[in-house]
Amino acid sequence: MTLSPQFLDELRARTLLSGLVGKTTKLQKAGREWRACCPFHNEKTPSFYVNDDKGFYHCFGCSAHGDAIRWMTDQRGLPFMDAVKELAQTAGMELPAMDPRAAEKAEAAKGLHEACADAAGWFTDQLNGLAGATARDILAKRGIKPETAREFGLGFAPDSRGALKGALKDYGDPLLVEAGLLIKVEEKTPYDRFRGRLMIPIRDPRGRTIAFGGRIIGDGEPKYLNSPETPLFDKGRTLYNLDKAAPATRKTGRVLVVEGYMDVIALAQAGFREAVAPLGTALTEPQLERLWRLAEVPILCFDGDSAGQKAAIRAAHRATPLLQPGRSLAFVTLPPGVDPDDLVRTKGAGALEALLANPEPLVDRLWASEFAAEPLTTPEQRAGLKQRLTEIANTIADANVKSEYIAEFRRRTDALNARPPRAPFVPRPQGGGRKGNQPWKPAPGPVGDGAKGIHARGMDGVLTKPVLIGLLRHPTEIGRHIGELSRLNITDHRLANLLDAMIDVAVEEQTLDSERLLTILATSGFDIIAHDLLRADQLMCSFTQRDAEPARAREELDEAIAILVARPEVDAALAEATAMMQTDYSDEAFERQVSLVKEQQALDARLANLVQSNEDARAFAEGS
Ligand code: UTP
Ligand code: MN
Repeated sequence: MTLSPQFLDELRARTLLSGLVGKTTKLQKAGREWRACCPFHNEKTPSFYVNDDKGFYHCFGCSAHGDAIRWMTDQRGLPFMDAVKELAQTAGMELPAMDPRAAEKAEAAKGLHEACADAAGWFTDQLNGLAGATARDILAKRGIKPETAREFGLGFAPDSRGALKGALKDYGDPLLVEAGLLIKVEEKTPYDRFRGRLMIPIRDPRGRTIAFGGRIIGDGEPKYLNSPETPLFDKGRTLYNLDKAAPATRKTGRVLVVEGYMDVIALAQAGFREAVAPLGTALTEPQLERLWRLAEVPILCFDGDSAGQKAAIRAAHRATPLLQPGRSLAFVTLPPGVDPDDLVRTKGAGALEALLANPEPLVDRLWASEFAAEPLTTPEQRAGLKQRLTEIANTIADANVKSEYIAEFRRRTDALNARPPRAPFVPRPQGGGRKGNQPWKPAPGPVGDGAKGIHARGMDGVLTKPVLIGLLRHPTEIGRHIGELSRLNITDHRLANLLDAMIDVAVEEQTLDSERLLTILATSGFDIIAHDLLRADQLMCSFTQRDAEPARAREELDEAIAILVARPEVDAALAEATAMMQTDYSDEAFERQVSLVKEQQALDARLANLVQSNEDARAFAEGS
């Protein structure tokens, strides 16, 4: 079907724009025009005007401008074709003839739409009736207010095989089966798909119910049962709550993506109306494209548990090839075992708002995930990291974004492998900091169960060798840190044994210099590994260099040891707090999780600082 310009002009002429806009925005007469507070941005004094004669709206505040069709696509978030259809219907205009097969399909879809709408109405009646008492109780316990339940059209499917089928019998079984409301197994009589579940209608961008999600009442499997794919419902192209979130994103300028229906509903109740969710599957390309029509950088707010973090990284990889200038994704990681629903219910909207203030950019998430994937002790492993990052960057279709990613990843891997400077160490320049460069930031990788050891190994891989080199060069520091050093859990046995031997020597001799330490180590066969270490290409730190300024080397070595010791302890404590949350949800356990996640991030920031300050000094020394 093609739409002629004449048809569209006729459609605009027959649509009273103030009537259309006035459905959702309160208009005041102002001479020949109408005036309102702009629905596209937040304002207190009206600067949005609607002119019926010209058929245009215009905002003098944010320059939003358009006609009736634009209003439907930009404010209501409808695809162009749907916008035209809806306007044509209101204007009483026939759409230009479609081919008969398409017309037949449209006619059949009409029946399906009606059946879904009637089913939703019937489920809601059940929720509000006698049978719905338990379901209403559950909603109340979850803190869902009756207004919220109404807004989202929540309902209840009684535990019966024939109740809905009976209520909708006029449609006939075949249509109800096609709509996904009944199940037909082989030649047996079809029966109700959703039984004993809290019902959540899934709506298309025009707000029409096209499918359902049903949550089990109490415990049981599966927790959520969703409608199958039907002529109306294409799971991979649908986002839950898009119909309501689209207009909301135009006010807040952001769109949030969460994992579940209940997260969306709880967030809306808490004032975050711009949230959507995929339907139990990973985000697809069409869903990402949809999200990018709403905001340049959609924010994914996923649980910090391993399932949530796997979903986040999968979305990151799916989005990468599609990046364009300005267009990206960002990530907010909640404490493990906490989803957005839990967070706003227990901590209020402020807690989520605080996390949203500082989301993690896509580039950091990709980097962190590869950085934590393998140890980085050998040149081959570090080359592996480079290779994986290059492969990721090479998937980006847009040439400019691709070259930026390649450059950014290179800067970060170079910072890891930086060679010691040729010139002797020079103190850090005043007000240092490389302008225009992203600080090197090993963003927190996935935490919690499955991922527990991985990040610790990452940190171990980055810092253990430099610290050992530092101690070989400054042996008096061993004595000052014996307590911390003996708590270290180094994964590489050879290095662990070397450290033990160094501690033994330091205990025997309080005044040690580097040469003496190496001589004694040689007598117990540690000379080769010690010399290998001293020659190694390492994360460049003041304390690993022979000629570094002693006070600074000592200060930074203190810092490196503190980070190296603290990180695995924080990781372990977080894993424990997470396990506790899962068996026994309590406010204390939750607070503890949140504060441990913050500690992890603080340690990562300290490591980044350490590396950064050495980068600055090197750049200064090289006169670049
Ligand atoms: P979750 O298991 O995280 O559910 O699934 P939730 O939102 O926290 O639910 P509550 O708080 O326990 O009620 C997230 C999403 O994954 C899909 C659903 O879309 C759900 O909203 N899902 C989950 C399924 O499709 N089937 C399932 O069995 C479980
Ligand atoms: Mn939940």
